[in-house]
Amino acid sequence: MGILITGGAGFIGSHLADLLIAQKYDVIALDNLSLGTKENIRHLFNNKKFRFIQKDLRHLDELKNIFRENQFDAVFHLAANSDIRDSAINPGIDLENTFMTTWNVLECCRLFEVDRFVFASSSAVYGKTTRALTEETGPLCPVSYYGAGKLAAESFISAYAFMNNIRSWIIRFPNVVGERATHGVLHDFIQKLKSDPKQLIILGDGNQKKPYVYVRDLVEAILYVYQKADALLNCYNIGVDDQISVKDIAKIICEEMLLEDVVFTYTGGETGWKGDVSRYQYNLKKINSLGWKAEYSSGEAVRLAVRSILSK
Ligand SMILES: NC(=O)c1ccc[n+]([C@@H]2O[C@H](COP(=O)([O-])OP(=O)(O)OC[C@H]3O[C@@H](n4cnc5c(N)ncnc54)[C@H](O)[C@@H]3O)[C@@H](O)[C@H]2O)c1
Repeated sequence: MGILITGGAGFIGSHLADLLIAQKYDVIALDNLSLGTKENIRHLFNNKKFRFIQKDLRHLDELKNIFRENQFDAVFHLAANSDIRDSAINPGIDLENTFMTTWNVLECCRLFEVDRFVFASSSAVYGKTTRALTEETGPLCPVSYYGAGKLAAESFISAYAFMNNIRSWIIRFPNVVGERATHGVLHDFIQKLKSDPKQLIILGDGNQKKPYVYVRDLVEAILYVYQKADALLNCYNIGVDDQISVKDIAKIICEEMLLEDVVFTYTGGETGWKGDVSRYQYNLKKINSLGWKAEYSSGEAVRLAVRSILSK
């Protein structure tokens, strides 16, 4: 008996494995290593409470064999396409890796009677709205294929929960930063500034403003919600109350790289790329009432993450 983490060799999945093991759970991490790496979990290879399976979740028959051979208490389903810009030019990536992987895992839960399912969803399901996002905000109109893949997955999770009595937790993350992340605005800016420390080209107008949560805060919140929320279908936003603009992220990076007088130039427009939601904020009343609050603000999370990238 143990917990299956899909996407367990990825950025967030590997941190979740660390936390679950620290809390004495047995963990099996499954990943096809398309985006994750063995480096993220190498420190766990000698741990008796950890096992890694390299497998592609798109192959239902092979996944069934894994469920047949192992008895899982719960599945934390984190595997997905995590590169929104990549799928913007190839929508099939989200259909396959964000939606179908979820459907396949749900189907195995139904067939092999695993009755707990935790899902890594995203603020992208909400689409564009000017109101602070609560779990009741709607209609849900995603503007990216990634958001659509997550929302379609959420609706199947709801149906599988009610049809099969699978207790489910849908957790909607904002932007997540920290050690082991491989891409995103922080990496882009640091890369650009390393090749030209005098100027930085910023996509959009720089006023894009979003909440950023530190990865260790996030995985603690995932486990907290899993342990405390006990409805058949639980839906929670996880994140921080405040936000930080892209321009301010650029300033933090320049400070941490000890660069002065960097000239910022903007490609212009409200969003950095098609499918991006340029501004949003969370209303976290629901998770706060459950008793959880993030330790780090958006600015603190970004600074910690920048330091970890620069220390490599
Ligand atoms: N990082 C963020 O800012 C963020 C924000 C909101 C939601 N999320 C969600 O959190 C989850 C984890 O994201 P992450 O940032 O750690 O990304 P990540 O890319 O590091 O992790 C995803 C993992 O899934 C694996 N994977 C993808 N397709 C697979 C398949 N077909 N079979 C098996 N494994 C497969 C990848 O190899 C990767 O290791 C994802 O579901 C993502 O959508 C992330």
